[in-house]
Amino acid sequence: MATIHIDKSHPQSRIAPEIYGHFSEHLGRCIYEGIFVKPDSGIPNENGMRTDVVQALREIHVPVLRWPGGCFADEYHWQDGVGPRERRKKMVNTHWGGVTEDNSFGTHEYFELCRQLGCKTYVNGNVGSGTVREMSEWVEYMTFGGVSPMADLRAQNGHEEPWRLDYFGVGNENWGCGGNMTPEYYANLYRRYQTYVRQYDPAAPIAKICGGPNVDDVNWTRRVLDTCYASPQAPGAHGYMDGLSLHYYVHPGGWDHKGSATDFTEDEYYITMKKALYMEDLIAMHSAIMNEYDPEKSIGLMVDEWGAWYDVEPGTNPGFLYQQNTMRDALVAAVTLNIFNSHCDRVRLACLAQMVNVIQSVLLTEGPRMIRTPTWHVFRMYRDHQGARLLPLTVAGAGTAGSRDAQVPALHASASLGGDGAVTVTAANLSLTEGQHVSLTGLDPASVTGTLLAAEAHAHNTFDEPEVVKEAPLAVKVTDKGVEFDLPPCSVAALRLQ
Ligand code: AHR
Repeated sequence: MATIHIDKSHPQSRIAPEIYGHFSEHLGRCIYEGIFVKPDSGIPNENGMRTDVVQALREIHVPVLRWPGGCFADEYHWQDGVGPRERRKKMVNTHWGGVTEDNSFGTHEYFELCRQLGCKTYVNGNVGSGTVREMSEWVEYMTFGGVSPMADLRAQNGHEEPWRLDYFGVGNENWGCGGNMTPEYYANLYRRYQTYVRQYDPAAPIAKICGGPNVDDVNWTRRVLDTCYASPQAPGAHGYMDGLSLHYYVHPGGWDHKGSATDFTEDEYYITMKKALYMEDLIAMHSAIMNEYDPEKSIGLMVDEWGAWYDVEPGTNPGFLYQQNTMRDALVAAVTLNIFNSHCDRVRLACLAQMVNVIQSVLLTEGPRMIRTPTWHVFRMYRDHQGARLLPLTVAGAGTAGSRDAQVPALHASASLGGDGAVTVTAANLSLTEGQHVSLTGLDPASVTGTLLAAEAHAHNTFDEPEVVKEAPLAVKVTDKGVEFDLPPCSVAALRLQ
């Protein structure tokens, strides 16, 4: 029997709800078709936002949504996406399939989407090909409440009141698609650009996110912090930033041979798990550097792009990054979210890439049809961790699972204490062959409920069979040994203990 022992008497940091955030880029069918349809479309919508998609996203409590990219952000000129839709300037989306972007989804549409989702806003600005003035005017357009050229333009375009802008990213992947810069060059640009991200409303400050490293590029982290955090001229405790981003994708076969989303071997499954667990090492490695500059942990590590990225579905546009989503991806999501929880003292925001129809999506659409992926179910099952306080736990007796090339811990778990006194426990069984009988100790609950997501690793939902993978009640027994339950091979469970 495996045990998960929980220490309820020592609650730790709060798990920022934003750790459960999402990312939507102008890429493939994420925004267009997936989220936004023309208001006169036959697909039911409110102001262009698909009602089925918004409803499904509300069920998982999306806390924050990053937009408009990604690589697209450093080519995006916001003025092209405001004003009457029929007069908006078109552009070529050079990063993603070379398709024509008609800019019918712009700033007003983004804030309308966030309003419908009830989530915080995270807009990513353009450093790679945009000017300081352009960025500065965008912030003025979005957030200034008085009389000014940009506030007047916003009112003229139909929105009198300023919006609440919670996070602003100053560039994206500026070591790569965002301008191929050196860390020193980017850091100096960051200092300059962020100066003009004005805080018009002191009661609603905008958190500034500095472009951080790719995967394990610790040199980038150090060089950028040297200039943007630790500068003697830096104002206030945070230097010039509130967060540093980190991007990491799981590619089981490496960047050039990512592999199929649905057709994979046992070995590839375990390699995927091992690579998902590597998130822990990455967070530890970048946090160690951040701790040198910022031991008080006043700035956050924002993992604003993560997910399992495979080859596109056969026959689809290679630039659209459309992939299926299996039970393997549910396990990737489960361990990654457990890892974020366990580092919530430093990780303050994370965004799954991407929300609909791109990479590891929570939803897939085809015309008027929509399906929830296994990853959606994990986000739903984990939603009670949002805003709760992390509880320390130890896992024992579960052993390891794996193949010749990749050994992983068989059982992976997380626990938190909610404001209502309820404890949420999430646990994943990574083994493809062995079930786990688990005893949860350290708690003395009056009532326990649980949900289970269990299926063969390749199992996935399709438009014809949308409920192959779905949640079921978890059978739980309270005994003198603790709270006992069974985790079948390749499964995820969530328990609420009151
Ligand atoms: O999410 C797809 C792309 O991956 C993003 O545009 C970019 O930031 C990253 O390389």
